[in-house]
Amino acid sequence: MSTKEISPIKVGLIGLGTVGSGVVEILIHNANEISRRSGREIQVSLVCVKHIDKKRSIPSDDIKLVTDPFAVTNHADIDIICELTDVVELAREIVLSAIENGKHVVTANKALIALHGNEIFAAADSKGVMVAFEAAVAGGIPIIKVIREGLAANQIEWVAGIVNGTSNFILTEMRDTGSEYLEILKEAKSLGYAEPDPTFDMEGIDAAHKFTILASIAFGIRLQFEKIYIEGINNIEQQDIAYVSELGYRIKHLGISRKTAKGLDLRVHPTLIPEHLNIAGVEGVMNALLVQTDVAGPMFYSGAGAGSKPTASSVVADIVDVVRVLTSDPENRVPHLAFQPDALSDIRILSIEEVVTAYYLRMQMVNRPGALADVFRILGNLEINIETILQKESAATAAYIPVIILTQRVQEKKMKEAISRIQTLESIGGDVIRIRLETLDG
Ligand code: HSE
Repeated sequence: MSTKEISPIKVGLIGLGTVGSGVVEILIHNANEISRRSGREIQVSLVCVKHIDKKRSIPSDDIKLVTDPFAVTNHADIDIICELTDVVELAREIVLSAIENGKHVVTANKALIALHGNEIFAAADSKGVMVAFEAAVAGGIPIIKVIREGLAANQIEWVAGIVNGTSNFILTEMRDTGSEYLEILKEAKSLGYAEPDPTFDMEGIDAAHKFTILASIAFGIRLQFEKIYIEGINNIEQQDIAYVSELGYRIKHLGISRKTAKGLDLRVHPTLIPEHLNIAGVEGVMNALLVQTDVAGPMFYSGAGAGSKPTASSVVADIVDVVRVLTSDPENRVPHLAFQPDALSDIRILSIEEVVTAYYLRMQMVNRPGALADVFRILGNLEINIETILQKESAATAAYIPVIILTQRVQEKKMKEAISRIQTLESIGGDVIRIRLETLDG
């Protein structure tokens, strides 16, 4: 097909921040390759910005700036709306307005999809338009396409991965430099990785948005952000990073979703993983996903999970995808959540008490005969099997010595009970630190 005879596809952008600027740049810089792939010329013609007077270099005279997002969603000439804001409720209104006007939507907004995706996809299906969201998960890694289309022949057994670049960057720097957490966070912000509200990165909320989406497309369930278990990296201490290295592990902020006989495991939290695994070597802002499938076997994907260009790469790929199928029958397009809307499953999502995993425990113990035996007795009575124990040498004057125990897999409910019993022992000072451990071995 000649790309010259047909009128260009007009894109309206909402947001010209880190990702939006990258999208404009890529669409101009790679225009020729992109139109050879999509069969049409693609032009950004209207952009909604917060501050119209802000000094910025717009690389094309054909781009008009406005401050009202609905001036973009209501504009008759716009074919595709690219929603690239970092807000949620307003983004929902913008996207629903675009859909109502029969426009296709591309978004990088993970919170929007995790929280309002069910409503948005239903509206899009009834209007016969597409909502594409590759950039919402793992930045430049095309993991949505992989799971939704490339692995369509498989039953997915589990998905696990690092999907928050900022917390991976911070854990990496804490290990490599011994720097303080807040110093590293400042750097992550200046590089455009961290969310405007960095508690979303540090407390695991951003990763939870992304894993809510991944679990839906992997297992064909409705988006259920309210059911995911969330823990961030904000309580990880330097000493734990050092101790786990001695034991041959790394701490990563991991999302995990696994189909079990009792229901679906869905959680994000700091996790010890064996240091010999590929994923343990994924450092800095890089993201990585492991997908265990029944037919194709285990898969490993990694790449840049945040930043202007990698995220914009996924946004532009979505625009190309939308352009390619503009004229196809809406009934035959790839379903938003991978499975047909009337074929979604209602598999139960497990509470964290029901989850079975191994554990790293660190406690401060008085150095006297029998102190360790008391802890062993509590674990034994609850049928918790010890895998490894590490007792650090004490300074002559120290009241307590650090003791680290790795356990075998046990239900979280039992481990909580064990920890609360251990904490009542006279020989134990302060709280027992607990980090979950996964071997990710199929
Ligand atoms: N704050 C996110 C991260 C940006 O660090 O991964 C990409 O979604």
